[in-house]
Amino acid sequence: MENAVLTEQGRETFRVLLLSWYQLNARDLPWRRTRDPYRIWVSEVMLQQTRAAAVVARYTQFIERFPSIVALALAREEEVVALWSGLGYYRRARMLHSAAQLLMKEHGGSLPKSSLELRRLPGVGDYTAAAIASIARGEAVAVIDGNVERVLMRVLGKGAGSRGASAARLKEVASWLLAPKAPGTFNQAMMELGATVCLPHGPLCGSCPVREFCRTQGEHPVRPRKQMISVKSHYALVKKAAGRHVEVLLVQRPPNASQMPGMWELPTLGDHDLIESKVSEPALRIRHSITNKNFYVQVFPLEVETFSRLASASDSEKQDWVAASNLPEIPLTGLARKILMRLDVLAKPRQVRQGKALPGADDEFL
Ligand code: ADE
Repeated sequence: MENAVLTEQGRETFRVLLLSWYQLNARDLPWRRTRDPYRIWVSEVMLQQTRAAAVVARYTQFIERFPSIVALALAREEEVVALWSGLGYYRRARMLHSAAQLLMKEHGGSLPKSSLELRRLPGVGDYTAAAIASIARGEAVAVIDGNVERVLMRVLGKGAGSRGASAARLKEVASWLLAPKAPGTFNQAMMELGATVCLPHGPLCGSCPVREFCRTQGEHPVRPRKQMISVKSHYALVKKAAGRHVEVLLVQRPPNASQMPGMWELPTLGDHDLIESKVSEPALRIRHSITNKNFYVQVFPLEVETFSRLASASDSEKQDWVAASNLPEIPLTGLARKILMRLDVLAKPRQVRQGKALPGADDEFL
């Protein structure tokens, strides 16, 4: 028998159930309090590949510093990347910046209205174009991200055990289901359902507003969890006083590095350096995860003279002393930023100072 959601009556009930659930359960996220297409664009780019909880603090700071397309277009790329620190996938920040400059040159400084035109901007794919156009402009275009895909696959239950419905079929169903009078809210409700209830592992079917339509009740095959690889790494914290200021020694990653090119981090220490420098106790131990790697990081405070005798001091391509007060403008790797905040060299953003832990912060380990 055809799934009830694919009938006229079923689709209407599905919309009502989903939208009422969203009204009551939507997380209060800063980009949900605006219809400004620029702000929605920034949030959607940040949300690509990054969890909403981790985006909140970065988004707020980014919008404070670059409240408009013109402010973003006029900024130096380095500063844009600096404010992206911790979100990863830094190419997104560079594309956003160059798209803002293009909009100033060719579109009078505003975002185009339709999803088709948005799609032509650097870094804007089908998903981002549909999200901006539906949320900010009310265009009836369906958003399909990983979360929406999973919700639809489970609801349809086609070929559970095989690879399920094709991308074209999912797009067709998503467009058909979309609530024409509230496309932006409907799209966000679908994404929210996937992000908070219809989870990849251990879906909360008991809390699902549309479970009566679901063929699989979560029994849809999902990609296996990533195998995490453990890596140990050691860094040096080398500080000196310069007048009334503190400076910290940083190293720039090579411009051709495959990950985080041109970004700044603390000098690394090899095993030989650790023996040579005779330090025993690290000032900080933390775990930091990037994609499928767990880095178990130890940070050792070293005197300038001690560090300068080590092999690491001479083989770093580009080292520089950076005043602690200038750190917010430097494109730091997410790990460097985390270390410098934990060791109180870099001021913590307001939310963290008020005692709310930054979402997504990793555990300290012993
Ligand atoms: N994921 C990406 N964008 C989203 C949005 N606007 N609402 C919920 N989840 C999202």
